[in-house]
Amino acid sequence: MLNTEMISSSQELPTPPMLSGGLPYIGHVLEFYRDQENFFRRGYQTHGSVFGIKLLGQPMAILVGPQQQSFFFRSTDKQLDMEKPYAFLAAMFGRIAFLGSHETYKQHRPVLHSLFGRDQMVGYLPVMSRAVKAWVGSLGESGEIELTAQLTHLVKEVAGRCFLGDAVHERLEAEGFWAQYDALSASLDPLLYNLPLPKFARRDAAKQKIRAILQPLIEERRANPVDDGFQYLLDQPDGSGQPLPDEIVANFFAALMFAGHETTAGQAAWSVIHLIENEPYRQRLTAEVERVLGGLDEVNHMHLREFTLVNAAVQETGRLRPSAETLIREVKEDIELDGYRIPAGWFVMTSTAAAHFIPEFFADPYRYDPERFSERKEGGGFELLTFGGGLHKCTGMNFARTEMSIILAMLFRDYDLELVTPAEELRVERSGSSKPTPTVVRYKRKIT
Ligand code: HEM
Repeated sequence: MLNTEMISSSQELPTPPMLSGGLPYIGHVLEFYRDQENFFRRGYQTHGSVFGIKLLGQPMAILVGPQQQSFFFRSTDKQLDMEKPYAFLAAMFGRIAFLGSHETYKQHRPVLHSLFGRDQMVGYLPVMSRAVKAWVGSLGESGEIELTAQLTHLVKEVAGRCFLGDAVHERLEAEGFWAQYDALSASLDPLLYNLPLPKFARRDAAKQKIRAILQPLIEERRANPVDDGFQYLLDQPDGSGQPLPDEIVANFFAALMFAGHETTAGQAAWSVIHLIENEPYRQRLTAEVERVLGGLDEVNHMHLREFTLVNAAVQETGRLRPSAETLIREVKEDIELDGYRIPAGWFVMTSTAAAHFIPEFFADPYRYDPERFSERKEGGGFELLTFGGGLHKCTGMNFARTEMSIILAMLFRDYDLELVTPAEELRVERSGSSKPTPTVVRYKRKIT
């Protein structure tokens, strides 16, 4: 009786108010592609924390604000599912981990987590320091670089050397493995990923090539194990204790290398740009690095803990320029939220463009102000979406943050930098994650 009453009362609730501007059949697709940031902000300003949009016939409820985001992250996979909304990623990497069913996820989750345990992270630190030092050292006395491309290359180096080991990383590089990622990055598209367009044909070709490069290596290693990162992942059993089949192993490596660099490259580049643009903060940050690190080139856990201003700069860029701008789930059972009914079959979505700029939670939200994290402790609940939350919170968060802190520390300790590309020309590159468009930076080594 009680259940029936609850169901019938929730059936009477309205669905979330639809944002204006939707067109027949395609819905809000044009505005979504043209200016995603202002699209979501317009929705929040017009309707508040829960509103509806339609993309190619798919109704979606946008959830904005700590309570609504907490609901998003605390729901179980049975209530809010990831498989269908992230089919565009499965088109690249197959149905592994959260790109598959919940059963698949349960089998693969331990494999993901095995890479980020305490011992693993301790092992990654010197590898990261070495790779960053080698890059910083290669810059020479003075010159100009295109920052986005340089940092994309650097974070590939870091991911490859940490997760594969030096020898495998270098072998894969020579065989054209990393070159395939340009096609994968360019094909990131949550809506059109199945259309017969050239960029998706290039994605499928890249996927085949990656598989063809990895398969012989997997076979070699099954026959003759070697002690390195590649072998470590290869030997991980799934959640039921079974070895992973070759195809799944190859998909894991491909996806891990993508997650390991595509997201971090953009945020690292924006972190550098923000610091160049904010001189007073940069000077204090540089003084902090000189005090904590001195002339050392290897960053350890103690240094990281003392990098208050460096870490806050990384976090602030994650707020302003997050790599994952929207997170999506499919509603499996009707939801009742904030006086609305969100029916099964709808998608729910969070948006950093709206959530990270709510003045009640982030004072003066459009201002670059890292001290909101180091001093004022803003964003301590579910306000910040940069790395997600709940069961699916980013497994690589500490890895990525550590890597970005080391890059900022070594670069700004050793060099003076200025933007050559005018600030007003800087944009987010829409193909792929939120990388900046090509950005030229001039640098000069400091006199010590
Ligand atoms: C700045 C860098 C990064 C950002 C902003 C980022 C962001 C995110 C976000 C928002 C999610 C949650 C997705 C959702 O709930 O729908 C996520 C999940 C994930 N990330 Fe990251 N990520 C970053 C770096 C990395 C790195 C370096 C790795 C690994 C090498 C990684 C591996 C993963 C994995 C495996 C998941 C899925 C976790 C699960 O479902 O249990 N990420 N990431």
